[in-house]
Formats: sequence, structure tokens, C-alpha cells
Amino acid sequence: MYTSRITGMGKYVPENIVTNDDLSKLMDTNDAWIQERTGIKERRHIKKGDGNSTAVMGVKAAEMALERAKISKDDIDMIVFATLSPDYYFPGCGVQVQELMGIHTCPAIDVRNQCSGFVYALSVADQFIKTGMYKNVLVIGSENHSGGLDFTTRGRSVSVIFGDGAGAAVLSRSEVEGHGILSTHLHSEGKHALELSLKGPSTNHWVPQLIEENPQEDIPYYPYMNGQFVFKNAVVRFSEVIMEGLKANNLEVSDIDMLVPHQANLRISQFIQKKFQLSDDQVYNNIQRYGNTTAASIPIALCEAWEEGKVKEGDTVVLAAFGSGFTWASAVIKW
Ligand code: UT7
Repeated sequence: MYTSRITGMGKYVPENIVTNDDLSKLMDTNDAWIQERTGIKERRHIKKGDGNSTAVMGVKAAEMALERAKISKDDIDMIVFATLSPDYYFPGCGVQVQELMGIHTCPAIDVRNQCSGFVYALSVADQFIKTGMYKNVLVIGSENHSGGLDFTTRGRSVSVIFGDGAGAAVLSRSEVEGHGILSTHLHSEGKHALELSLKGPSTNHWVPQLIEENPQEDIPYYPYMNGQFVFKNAVVRFSEVIMEGLKANNLEVSDIDMLVPHQANLRISQFIQKKFQLSDDQVYNNIQRYGNTTAASIPIALCEAWEEGKVKEGDTVVLAAFGSGFTWASAVIKW
């Protein structure tokens, strides 16, 4: 019986810090509004010419994870890459990582599950390891949001939230029972697909068609989010999927040593913390510094929690995510 364990974590965020005050120079917003509604103080944005892209940031995070896992790139059996902001429409970022890192011709899968992307990707990797097919899988979540946001007042309810960055994990085969990824739980509800979406350019919404459909307006190739609707669904689904994970492993809320929620909005994390009566030490948040980095948010947060000694051997760690799709997911890990 094989289990899978996270043997190394890595992260990368661009050096360029963008504060709320910086954004207020571009649009009608202010530090007080952003902090009060989201908890965000600053985020990182790729700077033109700094050489970063979604795939490149993924590579930087992956290199750190490999070093910490003490394995070589030649030991990687598969790459699973989660992003909603790939460098190209096709092919996906997974093959770019394979090429940039000089990894042999292993399979590279791209996962498109937005804020739940990393937990979905972890689940894919976990299945391949548990069935005995692969030994080491590189799981990456990376986003270049800043390249595709509307930084005018029109886009302010979306663009102040998101930031760029990448996180990565090496998932490795283990034969120690009761350790590693205990279970993952994945859900989706496509009826709300357009409540948090980017319609085009796409095969249904090529630019000429977008112009034809919106002759009087700017072309809607920026993300759309029905913020309050997303928020209301998020708090319900976060709670459900955390409880589902605990129940599947006969655990109680009090067994959680560390909850790492997707960093969607600090208010959502605080709502969950209060609902489950968790202490500040039991919930990790870093949205204040990075904003919402979608598929990268959980691996960056988990990596930092581990670096700060807040996730230790034997701890019960719960990852939980909710986002566009709608999709939501959790993972229960015995570290
Ligand atoms: O990670 C994927 C999942 N995403 C989420 O979970 C996000 C969930 N939603 C949210 O986090 C929140 O809904 C937001 C942070 C996006 C928005 O907060 P809100 O409290 O729902 O604000 P709102 O959209 O209802 O807007 C309230 C007011 C509006 O003005 P009026 O109509 O009351 O005059 C907005 O125009 O705030 C205005 N507003 C802003 N003001 C200053 C919207 N964005 C901004 C802004 N700065 N950046």
C-alpha cells in the first residue's frame, strides 16, 4: 500500500511590490477600502522585462521544492501544473516547465480549476502515486494575474484583489501508513461558471466577435466577478469541504493543527476561523502581503507556514479552496 507525502515545498513571488496606495494612483480606490474589504495591504506584480511569466515563476518555485525534497529533476516522473493564466492559449505551462528545467520526457498535465487548482493538482498527483504508477510528482500552482487585469476604475473590484506568484510541492511515494495525503475531496458546480469568469478571447469569443457584440463598449476581455455572490458561496463551500475531509478521516475540528485556506479574501478566512472556533495559530494567512494568487495561493501559504515552523512532522494539516467554476476542494494531510 503506497501513500504520498509532500517532501519539499517551494515558492517564488516577483520582487515588484504594489501597495494599495500605488493602485489608488491608477484608479478610484484607497487603502482603507481594500484593507477593510479584503485584508490586502500589498501584492506582487511581474514587472515588464523582469523575465518572469507563469511558467518561469513555476520553475523558480519548483527548483526550490526539488532542492528541499533532495531529489534531482531526473527523479521527476510527472508534472502537474495548475493555472488560470497560462503563458499560451496552448500548449499548457506543464510542458514549458519540463523544457525549462530540462526534465526528461515525463508527462506534463495542466489543471484548469482556478482557485481550487492546486488542491485538484495535488489530488491528481496523489492518485498516480497511490496506484504505484509514479514515485515523484512535481505539483505547481502559478499565476500571472497582473498581465490581464483592468487597472482602471472600471475593473477595481477585481484588480485590487489579485497578485502574481508561484508555489510548488514535490509529492513522493511513501510506505508509511497514516502519513502524507490522507484524502482529497473535489467538487464543482458549473451552473455558476460565468459568475467568476473570463469569457475571451476564446473559441466562443474571439476578439472580432467580442467587438461585434459590444460595439459601444470596451471589449470584455477582463475577468468578471460577481463578488458578493462568490463570497456567499465561498463561505458555505469552504465549511462543507473542510468538514467532509475531517469526517472522511474520523477527525474533529479540534484535531486541526493548521488550516491553510485558499487566500481569497481575509474576511472569508476569518469567517471560517470563527465558525470552527480555531485559534490564530491554527489558520495561516498571508493574503495581506500577496493578495489572491489563485492556484498559487495555497502552495505559497503552505510553504511559508512550513518555513516558519508552523507545520511540523505529525501535524494534521487541512487545505481548502473555493473559486471559479465554481469549484471547491480540500486535502487532509498528516505531515
Ligand atoms: O478567489 C476566488 C474567489 N473569490 C472570492 O472569494 C472573492 C469574493 N468576494 C469578495 O471578496 C468581495 O465581494 C469583494 C472584495 C470583491 C468586494 O467587496 P464587497 O464588500 O462585496 O463590495 P461590493 O462589490 O459590494 O462593492 C461595494 C462598493 C460599491 O460601491 P457602491 O455601489 O456601494 O457605491 C463598489 O463600486 O464598493 C465599491 N468598490 C470599490 N471602492 C473602492 C468596488 N471595488 C472598489 C475598490 N475601491 N477597489
